[in-house]
Amino acid sequence: MEAVKKLIELDKESRIIEDIGAILGWDQETYMPEGAVEGRADQAAFLSGLSHQHKTNPEIAELIAQANKDLSSLNDFEKSFLGIREEDYNKETRLSSQLVKDLTKATALAQNAWAKARKEDDFQSFAPYLQKVLDLTRQKAEALGYEEHPYDALLEDYEPGMRVNELKAIFGELKVGLVELLGKIRKSPQNSDDLIRLDYPVDKQDAFGRQVMADLGFDSNRGRLDLSTHPFTTQLGANDIRITTRYDKNFFNGGIFSTIHETGHALYEQGIGDNISGTTVGDGTSLGIHESQSRFWENMVGRSKAFWEAYWPQMQSLFPENMSSLSVDDLYKAFNKVESSFIRTEADEVTYSLHIILRFEIELALLEGSIKIQDLPSIWNEKMEELLGIVPSNNTEGVLQDVHWSFGLIGYFPTYSLGNLYSAQFKVAMEKELGPISGLTKDKKFNIILNWLHTNIHQWGRLKKAGELCKEVTGENLNPQYFLDYLNDKYSDIYGF
Ligand code: CO
Repeated sequence: MEAVKKLIELDKESRIIEDIGAILGWDQETYMPEGAVEGRADQAAFLSGLSHQHKTNPEIAELIAQANKDLSSLNDFEKSFLGIREEDYNKETRLSSQLVKDLTKATALAQNAWAKARKEDDFQSFAPYLQKVLDLTRQKAEALGYEEHPYDALLEDYEPGMRVNELKAIFGELKVGLVELLGKIRKSPQNSDDLIRLDYPVDKQDAFGRQVMADLGFDSNRGRLDLSTHPFTTQLGANDIRITTRYDKNFFNGGIFSTIHETGHALYEQGIGDNISGTTVGDGTSLGIHESQSRFWENMVGRSKAFWEAYWPQMQSLFPENMSSLSVDDLYKAFNKVESSFIRTEADEVTYSLHIILRFEIELALLEGSIKIQDLPSIWNEKMEELLGIVPSNNTEGVLQDVHWSFGLIGYFPTYSLGNLYSAQFKVAMEKELGPISGLTKDKKFNIILNWLHTNIHQWGRLKKAGELCKEVTGENLNPQYFLDYLNDKYSDIYGF
């Protein structure tokens, strides 16, 4: 058999192992009884070992070498596949099995220590574990290799092609714009969001969320929605995209915006081209692009006035007591209340990226060795004051709030913000072709929007890297001004300045 065909076949097998692992992971977060936790951990560890073994099989190196000898006989897909598979293989085999083992152990211990420290508001008990993870992460960056900065090596896992110098420039510009906008909002009369904290029966929230999901284009024949503590999207197979949400009877935002966010992720995965699905190429091209899809639907569509105008009759019939004395405008303002807060995951569109910039600056300084881990709580609080104008009274609401660093996920946070930036830039390109999104949203013509996303973004999977995709779709590199313009337009209207 031709080398590349054999490679594709092996890759599909790897994908099957990963899909089975994903089924176990999905079950663990949704329906698994608590008592099964240890057995499930063994199953997951066994499968991830098998997966690593399968992907780093030395036979693959031989097949890659053979296939590269005869490039002219390959079709376009085979050529792209070969390039991506070779890059992945080199990355996967660059880390020694000792380093992978050490990292797995250190992060497992750190997660435990983090959970305890967070509960007891005791950062210093977590510090030595985090130090160990950081030391190993530095070793990982060295083993992976980089040209200018160790952070670049880490970024490759989450936002391939992005470099720290570009990020610094982007976040520098974003920070100035956001701090200025937040200042204007804080000086304006504030809006109340009391009305989203009334009584919203969960069964009605669920019915509404499922309706919206279907309207946006989620294919329920190839996916489903369930409940979990933290909402997520996972791919169990090319035609099986699972999403989860959560409901709070007294906080309407929690359910609907989680559902729309995860639907956005799912629409990306459901839109990947048939020609590449089931292979390693049939995946989201970067976490930033993935997040651009969830945040586009959640914020630019779901938190728009046009969206709530479209669903106003339904809101009135589902929640007549709550809606009787309100207007669409009240609802729209409540959904878009801006306020500096301590917890990243609860932040609004304006303050969210400031939380990310804070983490990015700390990660860089940690990696460069210019700050010490034991000083993190005070550095965190200083940066909160600088960026958001508030200081948490304890570390649970401060430096201990996120699980990411205990997992060794350094370089991951920026992708959340990149998602916002890409989505704003894509929106401008989309509107040049389709006209204002608000008009389509008001008429619930979401299929036109989704079609555009399929054609320009989804179908390509990993065939185009994030930077290349951005340039092709929008005509320029990632530029934070689009996001700042979007926010300024929207919030100057809401807050009247
Ligand atoms: Co997301």
